[in-house]
Amino acid sequence: MKTRYLSADDPKTPEIAAQILQKGGLVAIPTETVYGLGANGLDEHAVAKIFEAKGRPQDNPLILHVAEAADMEKFCHSIPEAAWLLAEKFWPGPLTMVLPAKPTVPRRTTAGLSTVAVRCPDCAVTRQIIRLAGVPVAAPSANISGKPSTTTAQHVLHDHDGRIDMIVDGGSCRVGVESTIVDLTEERPRLLRPGGITPEQLLQVLGDLIVDKAVTAQIDQDAVVKAPGMKYKHYAPQSEVVIVAGSREKAAAYIHRCFVPGDRVLCFEEELPLYESFAPLAYGREADVNTLSAGLFAALRELDDPAVRKVYARCPEGGGVAYAVQNRLKKAAAFQIVDAEVEV
Ligand code: TXA
Ligand code: MG
Repeated sequence: MKTRYLSADDPKTPEIAAQILQKGGLVAIPTETVYGLGANGLDEHAVAKIFEAKGRPQDNPLILHVAEAADMEKFCHSIPEAAWLLAEKFWPGPLTMVLPAKPTVPRRTTAGLSTVAVRCPDCAVTRQIIRLAGVPVAAPSANISGKPSTTTAQHVLHDHDGRIDMIVDGGSCRVGVESTIVDLTEERPRLLRPGGITPEQLLQVLGDLIVDKAVTAQIDQDAVVKAPGMKYKHYAPQSEVVIVAGSREKAAAYIHRCFVPGDRVLCFEEELPLYESFAPLAYGREADVNTLSAGLFAALRELDDPAVRKVYARCPEGGGVAYAVQNRLKKAAAFQIVDAEVEV
């Protein structure tokens, strides 16, 4: 198949994309977090094509993207007051809520769960496409399963050229890591995945938040978990990734001791001079964590090269958006972290 590639600025784009979705096709859509691989979320056959194109495990449910908060009622029941409050405060935006699903949502979309994840993305062209299509758009991140997420239309083209109907090029994604996911189906709200809406922001509205263990540790493949996607190895380049924690100087000393040809250093812009002879790759500025979240996946994709042996990565500290960057990098590193302060 020929993949159509259109700019988000082209006035024809929303209508063409909406028609493809209505006919059961696949359209890669820009969002503020990452690019999604979209299909009509109410059409089982269309949804099945997403799993096939991505090579996604069948037990991993999809997020339904809606154009406005009021649409939650079409696909969810028993919506708590907290969901409306969060929608009012953070939608459109990088927040996904897990709620009880109505029977109108096919089992393929929810992977057989009784709940469904919903999100209203902060991207005008994508909301326009959803409105014109007249259906919610089920969309996982557009990367091939297990690979770093897609934050530019070129990333999507690289993974899916000739295999999907259309790509809408809306430029680089502003946030760069996938949405925050919060489960509101239990007595206490539970953070399933950190993202652009921070735990601190959620707490301000909810007054309470449990952090699921899948956020902070490696989960067994056969474990029963709240967010099935969190147990898979994610976001990872082919080579081994090791996070080097500790001060700038101690980390540089450790990496200089261990580095051999074929290795790469993934660091902050501020640290580039420390690794001059190693062709280091910076993914953003430590002083501005938003540049780190925006640049992380493009950098991990660049390092996804069979010639790379091992990646030594520097990771920001602290809460807020740094918490989401830590989560993605730790997963890419399969939670391998060395502390340069104690290593000799
Ligand atoms: O920012 C985003 O959320 C992007 C853009 C395209 O919107 N989408 C995205 O989708 O990251 P995906 O499929 O890569 O990640 C969705 C995550 C998976 O870990 C999945 O297991 C979880 O959401 N999920 C989906 N439905 C769920 C449900 N009903 N209960 C718990 N977790 C769910
Ligand atoms: Mg994904």
